[in-house]
Amino acid sequence: MMRRFLVAIDGPAGAGKSTVARLVAEQLGLTYVDTGAMYRGVAWRALQEKVDVTNEEVLAQLAEATQFKLEKEGIRINGKWLKEELRTPEVSQLASAIAKMGEVRQALVRKQQEIARQHGVVMDGRDIGTHVLPHADVKVFLTASIEKRAKRRYLELLAKGYQVDERTLQEEIRKRDENDQTRKHSPLRQAEDAVFIDTSDLTVSEVVEKILELCRTKVGGNE
Ligand code: CDP
Ligand code: CDP
Repeated sequence: MMRRFLVAIDGPAGAGKSTVARLVAEQLGLTYVDTGAMYRGVAWRALQEKVDVTNEEVLAQLAEATQFKLEKEGIRINGKWLKEELRTPEVSQLASAIAKMGEVRQALVRKQQEIARQHGVVMDGRDIGTHVLPHADVKVFLTASIEKRAKRRYLELLAKGYQVDERTLQEEIRKRDENDQTRKHSPLRQAEDAVFIDTSDLTVSEVVEKILELCRTKVGGNE
């Protein structure tokens, strides 16, 4: 693949962003960057270190001081390998709350842009096409109905052995979507030049194929 090709994938929770972004990155030999895991990582550290989670300055410093190492299977935070720890309801809620804070966002966005200066990436999140990588080569906005998105999360958790109530899960996702769409700093919205894909009735491989096709067209068009 051409040097430093940048793919931005945004959308609400459970749309399939991380699943397809990881596969697209693999296919194209690009680095996958899960920016949600960065917000979750800061939330996780804040809970671990019992800092005042309403203090924006303290949280921004924490975000600034956190080292993120991207690996194929996930993210290492200050050298610690984290996976399930980042997916608890407590961390999800706090991640969504701290994502409203402008200074926290600034610190993480700087780190995300730095990664994209060094590597070609497939980066997924909420503000990648609109704010983090406004000049991305390919921008995609993924979504699906709230019922489908909650169902996917439900099945995922079930497969891991967790018993959860689907309605509660749907409500948790709805609240987070609302937070993300209505916040002042970089709210979730589709970039004007992003391609909209509704994944409600598509399989993972169909979505991956659509995005790969957009990338091929872009590379072809540039030659
Ligand atoms: O995996 P899921 O879609 O549920 O969430 P995530 O992508 O891991 O992101 C967790 C939270 O971080 C979201 O609810 C957003 O509030 C926030 N976030 C953000 O504000 N901007 C990003 N670029 C990525 C995540
Ligand atoms: O990152 P985001 O929150 O947008 O979604 P995800 O964590 O990738 O979760 C999506 C879940 O839905 C995964 O279990 C996928 O296998 C499944 N799925 C999908 O991602 N895309 C489809 N078109 C169908 C199912």
